[in-house]
This record gives sequence, C-alpha cells and structure tokens, in this order.
Amino acid sequence: MRSSSRVALVGTVLASVLCLVHGNTLGGSEDGVKYDFPNDFMFGVSTAAFQIEGGWNADGKGESMWDTYLHEHPEYTPDHANGDVAADSYHKYKEDIEMIKELNVKYYRFSLSWPRILPYGTDNYINKPGATYYRKLIEELRMANITPVVTLFHWDLPTPLMDLGGWSNRKMVDYFVDYARVAFDLYGDVVKIWTTINEPHQHCYNGYGSDYFVPAIVSNGVGEYLCAHYILLAHAEAYRLYEREYKPHQHGRVGITLDAFWGEPRNSSNANDIEAAERYNQFHLGLYAHPIYSKKGDYPDIVRMRIDSISAYQNFTRSRLPSFTEDEIHKLKGSSDFFGLNHYTTFLMSSSLMEDAWRVPSMDHDTGVKLEQNSYWPKPGAEWFTVYPPGFRKLFNWIKNEYGNDIPIIVTENGMCDFGGRKDYDRVQYYNQYLHQMWLAINKDKCNIEGYFAWTLMDDFEWKDGYTVKFGLYEVDFDSPERTRRKKLSAINYSNIAKTKQIDFNFIKPHLLKYNMNAIF
Ligand SMILES: *[C@@H]1O[C@H](CO)[C@@H](O)[C@H](O)[C@H]1NC(C)=O
Ligand SMILES: *[C@@H]1O[C@H](CO)[C@@H](O)[C@H](O)[C@H]1NC(C)=O
Ligand SMILES: *[C@@H]1O[C@H](CO)[C@@H](O)[C@H](O)[C@H]1NC(C)=O
Repeated sequence: MRSSSRVALVGTVLASVLCLVHGNTLGGSEDGVKYDFPNDFMFGVSTAAFQIEGGWNADGKGESMWDTYLHEHPEYTPDHANGDVAADSYHKYKEDIEMIKELNVKYYRFSLSWPRILPYGTDNYINKPGATYYRKLIEELRMANITPVVTLFHWDLPTPLMDLGGWSNRKMVDYFVDYARVAFDLYGDVVKIWTTINEPHQHCYNGYGSDYFVPAIVSNGVGEYLCAHYILLAHAEAYRLYEREYKPHQHGRVGITLDAFWGEPRNSSNANDIEAAERYNQFHLGLYAHPIYSKKGDYPDIVRMRIDSISAYQNFTRSRLPSFTEDEIHKLKGSSDFFGLNHYTTFLMSSSLMEDAWRVPSMDHDTGVKLEQNSYWPKPGAEWFTVYPPGFRKLFNWIKNEYGNDIPIIVTENGMCDFGGRKDYDRVQYYNQYLHQMWLAINKDKCNIEGYFAWTLMDDFEWKDGYTVKFGLYEVDFDSPERTRRKKLSAINYSNIAKTKQIDFNFIKPHLLKYNMNAIF
C-alpha cells in the first residue's frame, strides 16, 4: 500500500460535508437487494516482495535500495524496522498459499524482487536461485488453482541502479525493459496478467520529491517529474515489448497500477473547492493516467499549463515537467490492457497558494491544493488514513468520465489499517462498505470493473510506518522467529465474500464496532 506525506492533518467539521455524504447504512441487505458480483468477477489478495519476503541476502539476492537505506537509517521507521526477515515469505510461501486457498480467492497478486532475479539490476547476470523461487511459487499457485498476477516493480529498485540516479536517469527505461524481458522469458508461459509499475505517484512524489520514502532524494519540483516521466516511458516500452514479442504466443495482458486518494471538495457548494479537488485528481492520478488512457494522450492540459507557467515565473529556462515527443505520446496512448487501481482513503480539498509545509518549487506548490482530513471520519490506524467509503464510488466514476468505459478497472489494492488484533470488526466493516460502493459503481453507474484485490494477505512491512500499522487479513507475529500467522475475523468474512461473490451485511455486528458508521454518515 501507500502512504502520504505533507498533508494537513487538521480535522474539519463542515456541515456541508456531512450533507453530501450518502453513506450506506449497515443493514444494507434489509431492502431485499442481493449485493452480489458476477460469477467471473476476480476476487484476489495482494502483497509485495519487499513487504513480506525477507531473505534479503539469501541465495545470491542483490540489495535493493530499501535494504541499503534501512540498514544505514534505522531511524527511518518508528520501530527501527527493516525488511531483512519481514514475514519471511521467502521461506514460508507454501504456508502463504494455504492461507490464500483458505480465503477462497482465485487470484494472487505479488511482485517480483528485481534484485533477487538480477542482483546488479542489469540483465547480464541472472541469479538462478532467485529466479527459481518465483517459478516454484507460481507452480504451487497453479496447483492450487490460483491465478498469479505479477507486478514487475513494487519499489525495490536494485541498489546499483539507484546509484546511477534511479528513475531520474533516462537510462532506467532500458534497464526496466531488459528486466521485463527476463521476467516474460522466465514466467510468461504461465503468468498471463502483468502489471508493470506499482503506484508511480507515491513512489515519485514521496521518494524523489521528499524524503518520506526511499530513495529520499529531496529534489522537490524536479525529481518527482523526472521520475514520473521515465517511469511512464519505461512502462510504455515494456508494454510494447510484450505486445510485439510475447503477446502473439503468450496471450497475456499487461497493465499498470496507479494509486489515487479521492479528492473531495472541502465545501461542495464552493466553486473554488470543486476546482481544487479536480486539479488535485489531475495532478496525482491524471499525470499518470492521461498519457495512457485518454483519447488525446500526453499529460493533462491543466498539469502541463501550471507547471510550465510556474516554472517560467520561477525563471527556469525550461519547464520542470519534461515533454514527450509525438512518437512517445503515441507509444504511451493505449499502453494498458486494464486500469490497475489502488485506493485507500479520501481527503478534503481546497485551493491554496502556499502552505507552511510546502517547499518551492514542489508538486504541492504546483498543484496549489490544501489537503485536510474530516475529523468525523474514522481514523483506525496510520495518520494518513481515514475511512470514507463513498470516495471509492466517486473515484470509479471520475475514471469513467475521464477515460471512458472500454478499459476494465481492476482494483489491485484496497484495505484498512489498524494497530493490530484479530477481532478486527472495523476491517470487516471497511471491506463490506468499500465493496458496497464498488457494487453501486458497477450496478448503478455501469462502471467497467473486473476485479478486486484486498490489501493485504498478512501483516507486513508498511514502509514509513514499519511494522507498527497492520493491514493483514492474517496476523503475523513479528516477535516470533517462526513469524506465526493467525487468521483474523476479516479473513473469515472475506473468504465468505470471495466464495459466495456476495456481500453479507450480517457479518457486521454494530455494537462491536469502534466507529458507528450510521452515526457518522
Ligand atoms: C460553502 O460555499 C458556499 C459558496 O461559496 C458558501 O456560501 C458557504 O457559506 C460555504 N459553507 C461553509 C460551511 O463554509
Ligand atoms: C526572476 O528573475 C527576475 C529578473 O532577475 C527577478 O526580478 C525575479 O524576482 C525572479 N523571480 C523569482 C520567482 O525568483
Ligand atoms: C464475520 O465477522 C463477524 C464480525 O463482524 C463475526 O462475528 C463473524 O463470525 C464472521 N463470520 C463469518 C461467517 O464470516
């Protein structure tokens, strides 16, 4: 999953916000409606290599930039954590597969660790045991009748490539394509759904524009855009490689996974706030989605215009946002067979010229939107995370209105964080309510949604939050050398949803909830 930095965390109490929320009530099934999903709807569960695998130097694996950085900066997380062992999935993947089977999901999304396969980042040397690890994992999944969905890059860049500047270096486009080719060669016979890059926005904004995420390059206003630009080109080249050389005989699909908070106007009757929310959505999701999914291609006009004009005002000779050539625009347009979407939370948006926490130049300053949380919305775990289910439905509709309905959306991540415990009634409620909003998007709004992946299989390393916040359907005991896994209530409930393809609101016992949604909405 993701995190965010530099958002205003001021709670606001706005009557207008309360009015615009039509939260579903808890007893949704009382009206006799069956909240079910099509038979072929994909229910799955997601993880990422660095967050669960451990085995950081096992069997010839190279270092990723997260290994290197966390070893040098234990103070980066509140619990001085790193990914050396994590949930030890490198050794316990068979147990993981038993859990996935128990969840009744037919799809498992995981990522390949680039440095486990290519320790130097480049394709001149393939680490055989690393390559074999994923082969075994994939074979075991297939034997269990679970379809693998594979992410090529979920943030763990090989350190030798980071030393060359990571995604600020155009050469990374070639290295990524070379790596993609290795992966398609190794696993393309059995992997038929690929996603190239996970959450480029979080990665670039927090990692190149600030020190909130590794690589912690504080190149605000410049680095985010270089990173975005080269990641987009790398994605397009990898997609075209597959389309040209692999698709004809492997018959798979390739997409990208983008993240989006929903941007809700702070005051829904205020034209400035409405415009601010739209601008935010364009800068954070549109920046990546528009070049790929829009009819016109290229960056969104509002993003191009603002960064160009603010750069000029700041006396830069050229815009801080690089430009695509006609050929690149063409290559990017349509370079995804599905729209992978990660969504967790919603913020209230209003227009602002400058906030204390913003640097200049920066993406925050270019966007000119202030983010706040609504203090009425439940905040069950991490600082950045509040629960507002209707934002999910609005996001689907925004995507449909922007890019049309031809390309199916696959929700590649959605889930809730708390501080632990297996009686996770609030997580049960989160899944039910977010799935209900997705159901409404499919059935009332006719959004083209093909699948849903819960984040996440088990408690894991949550980047800046270390192991302090928990997203898992299964609990992991990080104090035990065995990394013992135990199922939570949410696992039982989600497995029922995946099995029946239906939301059952009776799973929720209102008196056990910390947050009573009926009272809130
Ligand atoms: C919301 O915006 C409208 C239009 O500008 C304004 O009249 C109203 O007072 C605002 N409401 C609040 C609670 O600020
Ligand atoms: C840009 O340069 C002009 C001329 O030197 C100067 O007056 C102005 O303050 C500069 N603008 C900024 C934003 O630094
Ligand atoms: C689902 O979760 C509820 C808590 O909300 C729990 O009481 C119940 O046992 C679970 N049951 C099933 C069948 O999923």
